[in-house]
Amino acid sequence: MGDKLLINGGRKLFGEIRVEGAKNGILPILAGVVLCDGEIELENCVDILDVRCMREILKLLNISTFDFGSTLYINTKNIKNEKITHDLTQKVRASIFLMGALLGRFRKVSIAFPGGCKIGARPIDIHLKGLKTLGVKIVERHGYIYCNASDIKSGEVVLDFPSVGATESLMMCACLVKGKTKLFGVAKEPEIVCLQDFLNKMGAKISGAGTDCIEIVGVKKLHGGRFKVIPDRIVAGTYLLAVATCGGDVTVKGALAKHNEALVSFLKQTACKIDVFSDRIRLKADKRLLSIDKIQTLPYPFFPTDLQPQMMVLQSVSEGSSAIQENIFESRFALVPELNKMGANIVVKDRTAFVKGVEKLYGADVSASDLRAGAGLVIAGMKAEGYTTISNVQYVDRGYEEIEKKFSSLGADIKRKKD
Ligand code: UD1
Repeated sequence: MGDKLLINGGRKLFGEIRVEGAKNGILPILAGVVLCDGEIELENCVDILDVRCMREILKLLNISTFDFGSTLYINTKNIKNEKITHDLTQKVRASIFLMGALLGRFRKVSIAFPGGCKIGARPIDIHLKGLKTLGVKIVERHGYIYCNASDIKSGEVVLDFPSVGATESLMMCACLVKGKTKLFGVAKEPEIVCLQDFLNKMGAKISGAGTDCIEIVGVKKLHGGRFKVIPDRIVAGTYLLAVATCGGDVTVKGALAKHNEALVSFLKQTACKIDVFSDRIRLKADKRLLSIDKIQTLPYPFFPTDLQPQMMVLQSVSEGSSAIQENIFESRFALVPELNKMGANIVVKDRTAFVKGVEKLYGADVSASDLRAGAGLVIAGMKAEGYTTISNVQYVDRGYEEIEKKFSSLGADIKRKKD
């Protein structure tokens, strides 16, 4: 059944909170370690379910990991190439990053199709097409992908869409391929720059991350080393949207405005008070905020799909109405029926949710359908009058470390009921 969160809503949030390392920065790096020979120290790591699942896969590959505080120690000296089975890939979508990384290292990989949050069809055709362009032979059979890269060659790949995962997979695959590989039309997320910085620190020669074109000059091998992961811009955004929704005055330490420009600019339109510093963001909301007319999700640097459900909760209690268009994942409005149960007024038509702000939300029994919808429900529960019970908290645990403790430290009344 999974754990539940019990929230007694209606309290404002006050104080300071620190953001940990980015989930979407750590996960591709945990695939990237298979390219390295030696010991790696990953600082600013976070203990979330997705990271634990990736560590389980690394164990299968005979890579040892142990954590001490927020540092993860990884040793790849005894690495071996193993078939990555369906039971493991279903637990974490990021398992697909291992396809490119293992191909780079061993030129051969067998891996089951990935699982992950059910927020859309989530095909991997762009990953496969890119690998094929570099000469990788791929056979798909009974839910498994079998790749052989014995004839792999550097070259040029144009992505049909700036997929984050495909960009990262191809970057990793090309690291140890002789010659120069150029990737065009790539994703520009800060986590891609983070992966480039990690790989370069371990000896790779990659440039261009953060722009439309990434260039990789193949090297013979990567070594170990120490690396610090960037702060999680989505967790930072979740905290900011929680304060904007519930009211209060909170400083989010470690939040980088340069990674969250679209969010900060939207929040400035709501009449909350937002102060941006080099290493933190402070948000103060002492009255009902104003709706934002139109919001649409798009690849970075535009507004992220991973903050759309949390933003929807803010819009659901703001003054006015808002049209929220989801352009990245087709099934990312699963939160809507749950929010409407709590008193929100939201109608979905195709890819747009029309949100009419209501004065109040009311506590209800609701269920998280995926990671970010779950985070949205936590915010809604903290805002609502009365008691809210959220089930399927395992989805929230994929990307937030002890979310109930984090929000309790800001004054929320939120408890976990273990299954
Ligand atoms: C990553 C993030 C996720 C975020 C998403 C979009 C990680 C671990 N996860 O997911 O949190 O929500 O970026 O910012 O970093 N697509 C295809 N074919 C492909 C690949 C993708 O059609 O081969 C489509 C997807 O279905 C989706 C869109 O492209 O509609 C974006 O997907 P992508 O950028 O690949 O997301 P992920 O890497 O899965």
